Amino acid sequence: MPDVLVTRRMVDAAMAALDGLGTVEVYTGPPTAMPRAELLTRVAGVRGLLTVLTERIDAELLDAAGPGLRIVANHAVGVDNIDIAECTRRGVLVTNTPDVLTEATADLAWALILACVRRVAEGDRFLRAKTPWIWDPRMMLGHDLHGRVLGIVGCGRIGQATARRALGFGMRVVYHNSRPLPPEVAEPLGATWRSFDDLLAESDVVSVHCPLTPDTRHLFGAEAFARMKSSAVLVNTSRGPVVDELALAQALRAGEIFAAGLDVFEREPEVEAELLDLDSVTLLPHLGSATVGTREAMGLLAVQNLAAGLAGARPRNLLNPEAFTG
Ligand code: DGY
Repeated sequence: MPDVLVTRRMVDAAMAALDGLGTVEVYTGPPTAMPRAELLTRVAGVRGLLTVLTERIDAELLDAAGPGLRIVANHAVGVDNIDIAECTRRGVLVTNTPDVLTEATADLAWALILACVRRVAEGDRFLRAKTPWIWDPRMMLGHDLHGRVLGIVGCGRIGQATARRALGFGMRVVYHNSRPLPPEVAEPLGATWRSFDDLLAESDVVSVHCPLTPDTRHLFGAEAFARMKSSAVLVNTSRGPVVDELALAQALRAGEIFAAGLDVFEREPEVEAELLDLDSVTLLPHLGSATVGTREAMGLLAVQNLAAGLAGARPRNLLNPEAFTG
């Protein structure tokens, strides 16, 4: 019986860091996630579990693991795949990998913002299709960013890093959080709190950074799109189900908003077919944190958390301190 199960191979430095943690089993079957039945079998008796966001950690899985499981170390900042309350009830520690991916994810949000407002992916497809063209004053017009408004929905670490970049583009920032940020955080960003509806009405670009919770599922649906400007762009680098993809496709087709950039999807890895046909959507396969340096930092942090949990120490990124008995 292994001590540790790793559900997806990490970058080499992180895999090497697993040395010394006992018997480690690693799922080596991408491009698919470990089938659920296999996960339930292989998890039996392990003390530590290193997961990625495709693994659902719930009562069924915790039952299959048995009472020896001490820690679930998620290789992601988002933990919507984990039933933390259930882990806490069973004394299982849960950790994530915050901070190390903040800047890379904000960069990718901006890659999508620029791609959407200036029709970058559409232009690339246009040329690859060998479409006849000549420079034309009316051709493939996008929108300006300078002097416009960036609306951040979920202005935590990544939202703030995305907002900071807006200053360089000459944009003004508004944001929506359940509560306004402390002035020492908001003021350097020039960021002003707005209600969700006011943010939608005022923003030229809306960038989504909130976690997926029951309250944020389909936060962006038909009603939200109807409130946005017809020239507005929506970018989502948080979690797919925050956006109702069918409603988004309809809004784009009806010209209710100008364009959308999605790095995450409602039924990942599936992409809603209605979106695939639209030139006004830029699609990426969940690349927010996908840089060499960031993935190494995430992997090493996940292993560090795992090792601490196995050793009976308090992991650095512990999300359920109530489960830690010292
Ligand atoms: C996360 O960390 O939650 C991302 O979605 C994957 O990097």
